[in-house]
Amino acid sequence: MCGIVGYVGKRDVAPLLLEGLQRLEYRGYDSAGIVVTSPKSPGLKMVKAKGRVRDLEAKVPARFKGTVGIAHTRWATHGAPSDVNAHPHMSADHKVAVVHNGIIDNAAELRRKLEADGVEFLSETDTEVLTHLIARCEAASLEEKVRYAVRLVEGTYGIAVMHADFPDRIVVARNGSPVVLGIGEKEMFVASDIAALVTHTRQVVTLDDGEMATLTADDFRTYTTEGTRTTAEPTTVEWEAASYDMGGHDTYMHKEIHEQAEAVDRVLRGRIDDRFATVHLGGINLDAREARAVRRVKILGCGTSYHAGMIGAQMIEELARIPADAEPASEFRYRNAVVDPDTLYIAVSQSGETYDVLAAVQELKRKGARVLGVVNVVGSAIAREADGGIYVHAGPEVCVVSTKCFTNTCVAFALLALHLGRIRDLSVSDGRRIIEGLRKLPEQISEIMKLEAEIEELAKSYADARSMLFIGRVRGYPVAREASLKLKEVSYIHAEAYPASELKHGPLALIEPALPTVAIVPDDDLLEKNRAAMEEIKARNGKILAVAHQEQEKADRTIVVPKNENELDPILMGIPLQLLAYHTALALGRDIDKPRNLAKSVTVE
Ligand code: F6R
Repeated sequence: MCGIVGYVGKRDVAPLLLEGLQRLEYRGYDSAGIVVTSPKSPGLKMVKAKGRVRDLEAKVPARFKGTVGIAHTRWATHGAPSDVNAHPHMSADHKVAVVHNGIIDNAAELRRKLEADGVEFLSETDTEVLTHLIARCEAASLEEKVRYAVRLVEGTYGIAVMHADFPDRIVVARNGSPVVLGIGEKEMFVASDIAALVTHTRQVVTLDDGEMATLTADDFRTYTTEGTRTTAEPTTVEWEAASYDMGGHDTYMHKEIHEQAEAVDRVLRGRIDDRFATVHLGGINLDAREARAVRRVKILGCGTSYHAGMIGAQMIEELARIPADAEPASEFRYRNAVVDPDTLYIAVSQSGETYDVLAAVQELKRKGARVLGVVNVVGSAIAREADGGIYVHAGPEVCVVSTKCFTNTCVAFALLALHLGRIRDLSVSDGRRIIEGLRKLPEQISEIMKLEAEIEELAKSYADARSMLFIGRVRGYPVAREASLKLKEVSYIHAEAYPASELKHGPLALIEPALPTVAIVPDDDLLEKNRAAMEEIKARNGKILAVAHQEQEKADRTIVVPKNENELDPILMGIPLQLLAYHTALALGRDIDKPRNLAKSVTVE
């Protein structure tokens, strides 16, 4: 959600920042802007454009030179996408430029006060108040000016600030929106996401909330908004620059779907303990006694991560026999939930930055709960806030629509369920059975990829549907939910997911030839029940696509996927439906990696 990139050094900064913005465009893509300067010829030069980074690039003149700069790609929150509302926001005297991710909650009140003092606002954004506050502060240094401004604002921010009178530096600050420093040789970088840094350096420092930093070509220093120095040791980023490339695929979504066998192999690597038929999860910081004392598990996440949590909750109930459920973090944090000391809370997030999940974690921690993170991005806010956790090692996910991270998160939950189960009452033989199943997953995912041509052809027949129904029962229901989300967000076809068991209680009224149903039909104890549901749909002339372990007579078409252990089947059954969503969107000519109105990492409420 919105991307920031900045640079201080000796290089020509504009091309470098534009390349950084391209890498961040998945975080927001309705407008973009750039400002540059240089200690040799101070004065801020700025270009902004509504649209994509390529629209900005087309507007940047050839002689737009500088060695210090900041840039931004925006996903509108306050004010419509436009040149004026695009960041950076510059003060009237052209001395201060600010790029900002997040939301300033008291912007309206601050704006009123500034306007009463005669300040003229150019944009409708909340960010512009920061620009004016910094510009009007009479403190001697840029650091003090920024500290003054951030102490007046309430809300979330990751900001980068430049000032014409201090052309050798960028000052940055963080509260609730990620800011990562990239440490180079006589050059420094800043970004909201390491995606924009890894081509230049893998040495990074992630700022904490309430922390600020000053970057000059030779140095960086970090301090609190109160001005107290903090220590920040650079760490090395694991992910290679090449993992952010498209790697011969036409879209990131396609690439990421196809990376799943390899990604699952990574989440399993080094964790299986054959001797005791269990797994090692060193990061969860939960000893056997503590694990046995857990009475409930509550999983919190948003969107696709919530769906992975639903699958995780079922696995934990089945394998560890601990009552477990999943809830959208965005709902949980607003309902004054009872926080129970015997419950293990688990926050799930690809980005590790989703604001609703982070806020839920903070509230739980404040109330003394124990919270684990199941997170993809190492060192992200949720990972750092949690008491322990499991990294899902899916690798960078660039497409706004989550695919490989969903699968890896489900596998991470299977590992946790097995671990908890083996500490409690899961037998050695059941432990071995699950381990065997986990080991089969990468090869079975590769088998599913071979179905792509068949699914591509099927997708063409669904592209003209106005709406689709996804049904599943118990293990199949979260799969149906996730498949329905995938289809709607990438193809814009309306899709709804229902438990197959609920059909008679309402949704059957929708069934007609023009409403295709996708049924998740695992070969488990509920097979006959699922067949009966398909029968009911068929009797009303509904068209059915089944995802099953064997051909389904009642379905018009069946996608046959490899069978694993019952508990692990949900991990595989959604994968062909990722391909279905992808090829349906492709047939409709959608912007697959950047669906309209969406952004990756929702760092605002
Ligand atoms: C859907 C999708 C979103 C995210 C959600 C949570 O494909 O990607 O629904 O799953 O915004 O994001 P994370 O997992 O980063 O917390």
